[in-house]
Amino acid sequence: MAIVNAKEMLLKATTEKYAVGAFNCTNLIQMEAVVDASIELNAPLIVQCSVAPSKFLKPQVVGAIYKTLAAEAPIPICLHLDHCNDVEFCKVCADAGYTNIMIDASKQEFSENIRQTKAVVDYCHAAGGISVEGELGTVSGVEDQVRVAESEVELCDPEQALTFVDQTGVDIFAPGIGTAHGVYKTKNPKIDFGRLEKIAALINGQQLRVPLVIHGGTGLKPDVVKNLISLGGSKFNVSTDLKHTLIDTTYDYISENRDQYNPGKIDAAVKEAIKDKIKYWIELLGSSNRA
Ligand code: 13P
Repeated sequence: MAIVNAKEMLLKATTEKYAVGAFNCTNLIQMEAVVDASIELNAPLIVQCSVAPSKFLKPQVVGAIYKTLAAEAPIPICLHLDHCNDVEFCKVCADAGYTNIMIDASKQEFSENIRQTKAVVDYCHAAGGISVEGELGTVSGVEDQVRVAESEVELCDPEQALTFVDQTGVDIFAPGIGTAHGVYKTKNPKIDFGRLEKIAALINGQQLRVPLVIHGGTGLKPDVVKNLISLGGSKFNVSTDLKHTLIDTTYDYISENRDQYNPGKIDAAVKEAIKDKIKYWIELLGSSNRA
């Protein structure tokens, strides 16, 4: 029951107006922490691994860890490949057991973005049970291998978004609406809520077809998060917040226990800190008790 793709859980979230947390992980401790916190709050979960950690750990190892953790969990859990701009590596991860694949060809020309996204959709749908996320418009900042300077940011054109969704057959869709990866440089980042509303109306107005994704969760204020959910965002990506938690907790633990050489205790401290952070996000996104 627990091994699922992203589509069904996000259709339910969109209808019931909450969002599923999609949490980027780089190692086993983080994965265990996000799974345990979600089980404790009975929340559906998307575990994300971007390309660098997927390559470092190996897709087959990530897939095996996911299957082990998810198979015994009483909640639905999806394993998502985040921001991959290489069609062939998308296929490798699909073969290794990832249940949602993001092909990010958003820096390409529109027609090339459609071509690459459709190639991944065709492969994953033929394999069965694997959903695909595509992106149009760009998200500024750095997420693993994808770097977008502020001057390069192009927000998603709503009419093009509809064409993109229709021509690629993507299962979930990430529009560029002004959110950013990393730490926001200003207190009130300029987010184009009206654009999201327009995109949601064009794609899902007649009938809910394709859940929408919000990238760049770290640093968004609670009222902004809630507004984005009310306008149709149902997958909420959080990465930087968890990286900071891991590194700060490790640094603090070692600083306070310089004479100890017990890695298990560092892991335990990191796991607890990440669990607390995930619980904050689950409550904010409204996904507790929705599994
Ligand atoms: P943050 O690093 O800003 O949380 O963004 C995460 C993200 O969008 C991953 O795809």
